[in-house]
Amino acid sequence: MPKKTLTKKSSPKKNKVKRQKRVLFQSPKGMRDILPIDQPWWEKIRKASQDVADSYGFLRIDTPILEEAEIFERGVGEGTDIVEKQMFIVRTKGKDRLALRPEGTAGIMRSYFQNGLSRLSQPLKLFYIGPMFRYEKPQSGRYRQLHQVGFEVLGGMEDPVYDAQVVMATLRLVESMKIKNLVVKINSIGCGKCRNVFRRNLQSYYRRQKGICKDCQKRLSVNPLRLLDCKNEKCQEIKLGSPSIMDYLCQPCRGHFRSVLEYLDETGINYMPDPYLVRGLDYYNKTVFEIFSEGNENALAGGGRYDYLAEMLGAKKGSLSAVGSSLGIERLVEAMKDQGIDGLNLPKAKIFLVQIGKPAKKKGFNLVEEFRRSGMKISESLGKESLNAQLKVADKEKVSIALILGQREVFEETIIIRDMKTGIQETVPIAKATEEVKKKLKNN
Ligand code: HAM
Repeated sequence: MPKKTLTKKSSPKKNKVKRQKRVLFQSPKGMRDILPIDQPWWEKIRKASQDVADSYGFLRIDTPILEEAEIFERGVGEGTDIVEKQMFIVRTKGKDRLALRPEGTAGIMRSYFQNGLSRLSQPLKLFYIGPMFRYEKPQSGRYRQLHQVGFEVLGGMEDPVYDAQVVMATLRLVESMKIKNLVVKINSIGCGKCRNVFRRNLQSYYRRQKGICKDCQKRLSVNPLRLLDCKNEKCQEIKLGSPSIMDYLCQPCRGHFRSVLEYLDETGINYMPDPYLVRGLDYYNKTVFEIFSEGNENALAGGGRYDYLAEMLGAKKGSLSAVGSSLGIERLVEAMKDQGIDGLNLPKAKIFLVQIGKPAKKKGFNLVEEFRRSGMKISESLGKESLNAQLKVADKEKVSIALILGQREVFEETIIIRDMKTGIQETVPIAKATEEVKKKLKNN
């Protein structure tokens, strides 16, 4: 939304003197810039994601940010908040109805079938990092452009070992950020059969209750499982007396869940079974889980099994089982900052070039290129002329060596190497500058 001041011309009103108001553009509501100052945290997460993916054998995939809206309507579900309230829809000139992806899983499933990825060795483990879009009421931890890291295991024959492995990979990534007080909540929401029986019982229980909130009145018919997810105080009270999914799981679902927990027990991680955990997307069956940092109601990550998604997107029934998870990068960054955890600081330049006068600037311009080509990080302030101004920058950057190039040095084809700690200076031939500096840095 444009605000007053700079850059954009506002349209002149009729019968008024043409006046150009200046307006300053703002990023769209709920969408933020990731500024250089925040990049160390983002970079730490990006790097750790790649490391975790490599160590578990997940291969990177990037799918388009726009997908046919129907993919999410069918996969994530018509009655979900994401599809009903939060999708950014784009109409193309060719009348295609596309959506800015609100999540990554459905697009990956589309890609799997479109590109015949079943030809690759199965299960296929895929991972991604990228922006997602949800039209939410912006607030802390809830943005309209959010970024996720995701892990998906496709074609694993419904083996519970993969549910456990996805939980582990997700947890490892959060743990590798050194975020403390983590809670893994896990549940099973059963299969099409046992969930239907549970759903009916849940509906009949809620129909007998008085005082459920407006949203829940709607959920009661559209998406009853989401009744368990309501944050309204009264609804939370009502939830405590509701039937538990655990009493409705059929034998195979019960066995599957038990196996997942047994695998997790082997690793000794702490988890908390939570019969009220249902998740906000329709494609799940059996295992669902979320990871929290204690005391924070926004999940850092969430995921689960989605054996029906392939069919929901038009594939043959039972043709592909899958399980996966995604982590919210913004929420990870916020948790790290809250807990005083540093980002990834890239190595800083230890060398600074000071140039005085035009010929030195010209020579210096190429000299920094030579340093960079030889793999040494060098800093400069080529746009500044005064010696003092340049030394100030060098000081601020806390370099250990300043290279000084003046008129005389250019004439004599030399350069001064100044040790910034001791103040000792040495003049060497400019042709040997990289070599000499390398030696000095080694000895420092
Ligand atoms: P989700 O629970 O909707 O699951 O989102 C995963 C994570 O994304 C959340 O735990 C949270 O950290 C972050 N997140 C979600 N919405 C926002 C928001 N508005 N602002 C900031 N962060 C947010 C999925 O998206 C599934 N695709 C996960 C999955 C993958 N299931 C199977 N495979």
